[in-house]
Amino acid sequence: MIRTVVHGAGRMARSVLAQLSGYDKLEPVALVSRTLPDDCPGIDWFASLEELQSDADLLIDFTLPGGARAAARWCAANNVALVSGTTGLVDKDIEALKSASREVPVLWAPNLSHGVALVTALVRQAAAALGVGAEISINDVHHRHKLDAPSGTALALAGAALEGRLLGSQSRLDGEGSSPGTEDGDVAFSSVREGEVIGEHTISFTMPNELIEITHKALDRTVFAKGALKAGEWLVGQKPGYYSTSDWLGLD
Ligand SMILES: NC(=O)c1ccc[n+]([C@@H]2O[C@H](COP(=O)([O-])OP(=O)(O)OC[C@H]3O[C@@H](n4cnc5c(N)ncnc54)[C@H](OP(=O)(O)O)[C@@H]3O)[C@@H](O)[C@H]2O)c1
Repeated sequence: MIRTVVHGAGRMARSVLAQLSGYDKLEPVALVSRTLPDDCPGIDWFASLEELQSDADLLIDFTLPGGARAAARWCAANNVALVSGTTGLVDKDIEALKSASREVPVLWAPNLSHGVALVTALVRQAAAALGVGAEISINDVHHRHKLDAPSGTALALAGAALEGRLLGSQSRLDGEGSSPGTEDGDVAFSSVREGEVIGEHTISFTMPNELIEITHKALDRTVFAKGALKAGEWLVGQKPGYYSTSDWLGLD
């Protein structure tokens, strides 16, 4: 059994805890959160990572950027694999995760659903095929409590689109010896925060007289929580390094 610590006690961390109770490969050994949730299941609780007294193989972090940074430092110092789904990260947070990945395996993903990993690969492929002739826009819709906008998933999808467009322009240059058409073009973002929407992303490729839209809708938080558990199960067997959902699922 993989001894698993959950970091955070918000909507996502509580969903992870709920999924852990029925997951036979991971054993929940501790919850670390600044406040003790009312509905804390029968699990040891610690108010900070410094106070944590449990041997662990894996830490699953769903907090806010400061929490992800602390988790990265703690995991590196204690030889514990880290799955972090926390978004809104800035350079110093990403640097902390990358620095930890020199000591332990780290998988950070702004979206841990299998469906979004697949959509990301599709977006890369579509952008490569369509080239600069298509204008790309990304709309994300989330619940009104979400702090970051555009969402981490929207930013990752934009990265995949621009990567695909660049790859497409390189292969057109190789194949035809013509101008690479490397203007990246901008990706336009729009974000809506309303009600209790779990998370919806639509990527639009607009061309003269044609529109392609790829939409993913998360209908329940369990898709992210289950993804975190499966990613964690895979991660503990890996060497130290910085991994993505594409590495975990073998998608490219
Ligand atoms: N990757 C994915 O698949 C995915 C899916 C959904 C959401 N997310 C992301 O996951 C994160 C959590 O989402 P959520 O909906 O669960 O948020 P939430 O309900 O607001 O919960 C955030 C939790 O983080 C804790 N926290 C905040 N700052 C901290 C710090 N510096 N150190 C330790 N704990 C800290 C909070 O503790 P206090 O209550 O004590 O402040 C709270 O328990 C967000 O970044 C969200 O965008 C990712």
